Amino acid sequence: MKKINISLTVLFFMGFSWLQAQERIPQVEELLGKMTLEEKIGQLNLLTPGGGVATGSVVSEDVEAKIRAGNVGGIFGVSSPEKVRQAQELAVKNSRLGIPLLIGSDVIHGYKTTFPIPLGLSSSWDMDLIEETAKVAAREATADGINWNFSPMVDISRDPRWGRVAEGAGEDAYLGSQVARAMVRGYQQDDLTRPETMIATVKHLALYGASEGGRDYNRVDMSRTKMFNEYLPPYKAAIDEGAASVMTSFNDIDGVPASGNKWLLTDLLRERWGFEGFVVSDYTSVNEMIAHGMGDLQDVSALAIKAGLDMDMVGEGFLTTLQKSVEEGRVSEEEITIAARRILEAKHKLGLLDDPYKYSDESRPERDILTDEHRKTARKAAASSFVLLKKHNNTLPLSKNAKIALVGPLANDKNNMLGTWAPTGDPSLSIPILEGFRNVAPNATVTYAKGANISDDPEYAKKVNVFGPRIEISEESPEELLKEAMDVVENADVVVAVVGEATEMSGEAASRTEISIPESQKKLIRELSQSGKPVVLVLMSGRPLTIPEEMQLPVSILQVWHPGVEAGNAIADVVFGDINPSGKLTATWPHNVGQIPIYYGMRTTGRPAASEEFEKFKSNYLDSPIAPLLPFGYGLSYTNFEYSDVKVSDNTLNSNGEIIVSATVANTGEYDGEEVVQLYIHDKVRSITPPMKELKGFQKINLKAGESQTVEFNISVEDLKFYNGNLEYVFEPGEFEFFVAGSSDGEFQGTFNLEE
Ligand code: BGC
Repeated sequence: MKKINISLTVLFFMGFSWLQAQERIPQVEELLGKMTLEEKIGQLNLLTPGGGVATGSVVSEDVEAKIRAGNVGGIFGVSSPEKVRQAQELAVKNSRLGIPLLIGSDVIHGYKTTFPIPLGLSSSWDMDLIEETAKVAAREATADGINWNFSPMVDISRDPRWGRVAEGAGEDAYLGSQVARAMVRGYQQDDLTRPETMIATVKHLALYGASEGGRDYNRVDMSRTKMFNEYLPPYKAAIDEGAASVMTSFNDIDGVPASGNKWLLTDLLRERWGFEGFVVSDYTSVNEMIAHGMGDLQDVSALAIKAGLDMDMVGEGFLTTLQKSVEEGRVSEEEITIAARRILEAKHKLGLLDDPYKYSDESRPERDILTDEHRKTARKAAASSFVLLKKHNNTLPLSKNAKIALVGPLANDKNNMLGTWAPTGDPSLSIPILEGFRNVAPNATVTYAKGANISDDPEYAKKVNVFGPRIEISEESPEELLKEAMDVVENADVVVAVVGEATEMSGEAASRTEISIPESQKKLIRELSQSGKPVVLVLMSGRPLTIPEEMQLPVSILQVWHPGVEAGNAIADVVFGDINPSGKLTATWPHNVGQIPIYYGMRTTGRPAASEEFEKFKSNYLDSPIAPLLPFGYGLSYTNFEYSDVKVSDNTLNSNGEIIVSATVANTGEYDGEEVVQLYIHDKVRSITPPMKELKGFQKINLKAGESQTVEFNISVEDLKFYNGNLEYVFEPGEFEFFVAGSSDGEFQGTFNLEE
């Protein structure tokens, strides 16, 4: 029998410390003492006057009058020091108690300096860099008046059909937790009163990335053990790092929508995790509980406040029904006071109660937004996010004197560089690939032809073009486009084809059931691959794609996601070899949609298939491999890395309570390069079925050509804990297998035995 370490005492104390009222802030209490019930409810109301991106069908009306009346706690979709000052003046000078507003925004991957989409950023596996991008985003956004960010989005997703996979850090809870922490640190740093920092919102609590069928806003159903071990850790990590607010998700959990789910918002978030900040709903998600079947607007608003939701985004259910619910005794005034206190405490944390205009310094935008320094960070972040998926005949890197045919619908395009959820960015500022090539390799001969439309289907284009022209279908026929490209190819030494998804083919409300490259572009790729010229595919997308055909073609493939404002320069940096690609996939790429969900950390079955060879009565498919096309953690480099001497220090813990797994990594190729060295373990026996592999550590190291380095991972009992069937966070002693490699598809290389 294994010894199970039940941490009931820990749980008890966590709950206890939460129950003991948090230290009260006199300034907040004094305000609360003066507030009427209506004014308290007003603090729980978040509105958007429009002008930004509205992701629901509703935009708030009469916002100014409501602010004057003390009916608004915060707004979003408003920016610039002047406009924010005006809004604050409305609240401070015209409402009875003069309470300033929270000013929210979705600053998801950069403000005006747009960084790669989050899935791309996570592929850098560089936490310092990710933190730096969040810090830059905070500096820019706060310069424009914003004090509250609706980021980081930390939803784990194992379903690339879901468009919002672009917005997160991929499939793994361990990596996702590191990314979540890095982003919270970047936004909030260690002091929210500083004018360059803003409140981070961890979203979307919870499990939004597990929508059934990969369809956005769809229902979710999941076992508690899976939830606790595989989906919840990044939210908890962001909260442990100090994230001051949480946003609920649209989906239900155990049949209760997140915005009205007491188990989620109180039992788990507050009592178990000790969260002390405030919780905001997603866009009209309180009202959407009507469609979920939870009652009318008064019912769902009461459900939400009683569950522990503090602020209602856009829907105004709180504003219009809570007073009545108090009068009818369905909601207590105390429940409303608690929520209002949390909003006021957030304003206090920001220093707004003392200085409502601290984010309205008109000299800041010029000084702090889109600086050369920030653009440099964007260029570096983009290059670090690229993943070299396939090398062919050493075509890459290209000579800076080459004669290049640059083709493809995304090769000379500003509208698709920023990626999804970049409402604060400006596509016209982005560097297309053609321009980047000319900047970085002025002596190369670069000739451009579009070659194909992103899609030839006008109906599809209409759906994708909601925020502006993303798929522009040429007047020329597909045949003419192709011919032009092949003429350009004829005269070139090498072909670079920039192909893939338009930005709004991923992101919110952009689910796909086919996640391959659209047929219009596939035709171009096939022709190019038969041209006899070396071909490089630069592949853009907001999700893992199914590209089994392209992987078989004699081409090199560089995955660049949607790279942000410095797209063209960063792609040129990598294509011409100034930077060696070092990104690794943070989500598995399947062969086909039928394999989904597919992820490296699947739990073992009782009938695992030993190989790709079909065996009857084993867990496999008749018509598809079981392995993915490209595994989590995978990514090549212009150089080669060899791993040797992988070993464990000892079977017993050292004086620091750790064992050390180490490996020597050598750069055996001709280029200097960076490698993400990854440690995976497998818990051989435990009380609930273990994942086949679990990432437990990674280090990104820089090795000059010919150089080698020993990398060490310190593992403690804490690192090997998991949530058991009773949801206790435990270590179960026993045997663990491990390997250290540059991808998750390595073989186990050793074992260690750990008794506590
Ligand atoms: C999204 C959130 C976002 C909110 C406000 C919603 O549709 O799900 O992620 O923060 O809109 O813009």
